[in-house]
Amino acid sequence: MSNIKIQGLGKSYINRRSRKRDPGDDNDIGAEIKVFEDINLEFEDGEMVCILGPSGCGKSTMLRIMAGFDQSYKGQILIDGKRIIEPSSDNVFVFQQNGLLPWMTVWQNVELGLRNLEDEQEKEDTIQEYIDMVELTGFEYHYPSQLSGGMQRRAELARALAVNPEILYMDEPFTGLDYLTHLKIREEVVNMHTFIKKTMIMVTHFIDDALIMADRIIVLNERPARVIMEHKLDFSRPRNIEKEPGLRDLRDQIFMTLGVSYVA
Ligand SMILES: Nc1ncnc2c1ncn2[C@@H]1O[C@H](COP(=O)(O)OP(=O)(O)OP(=O)(O)O)[C@@H](O)[C@H]1O
Ligand SMILES: [Mg+2]
Repeated sequence: MSNIKIQGLGKSYINRRSRKRDPGDDNDIGAEIKVFEDINLEFEDGEMVCILGPSGCGKSTMLRIMAGFDQSYKGQILIDGKRIIEPSSDNVFVFQQNGLLPWMTVWQNVELGLRNLEDEQEKEDTIQEYIDMVELTGFEYHYPSQLSGGMQRRAELARALAVNPEILYMDEPFTGLDYLTHLKIREEVVNMHTFIKKTMIMVTHFIDDALIMADRIIVLNERPARVIMEHKLDFSRPRNIEKEPGLRDLRDQIFMTLGVSYVA
């Protein structure tokens, strides 16, 4: 079971920079930057939810809080009714860019998440399976610095997916991948979700990814962010946006919601 509840979530940063963080940032040093004030959301056990929103609206901040990495916030986050007060153990995995340990090989990085698996053969097979899946076969004993950016991202994904956690938080997991690898890994994640039905929360800037992958899409607006759209997707999988008028309409609607009316 992995039901997540966000109740009355509020978060502010104190601006400690003299240099602006965002181009539109007009905060002085010491000023309070309100990221969000009162966010209420619930994620069902096994649900795949994609979160969209403009850059700087607080998506990564929200994931960090949900994962227990940031404890200075208002409100509460409950997982199966229990308040999150620290980063949780093995059943929650956070996919972030540059999450590989540089002194470990690809194989060792993927192995990290499987340290509780006792059967050595099963462990080896699982590691190889995920390395093959992200097409890094032959690079098992390379260190992250010996890989291209896209290859590093694939290794990070192999590591996250191999863990098979109860909750997987993903912050823009496909950024930096070439187009075909992006599509391929997206399909793998969808298949995996259909198969194992674990709770997955993914932040993305790619609206099409959300349309293809999500059971539900949540759209946030600019800081201080509020939920401005929540939409359940009852389309069967595999989904094809071009062939499904309902998905095309929803895409237009999301673009409009994000203020990009000319695309629609
Ligand atoms: N450590 C920090 N100190 C001060 N302000 C911060 C800090 N981290 C984030 N912020 C501010 O909080 C806001 C939300 O940042 P966050 O990284 O969560 O945005 P985001 O929605 O993930 O953006 P992006 O889509 O660009 O990744 C931004 O305005 C940012 O300037
Ligand atoms: Mg972010």
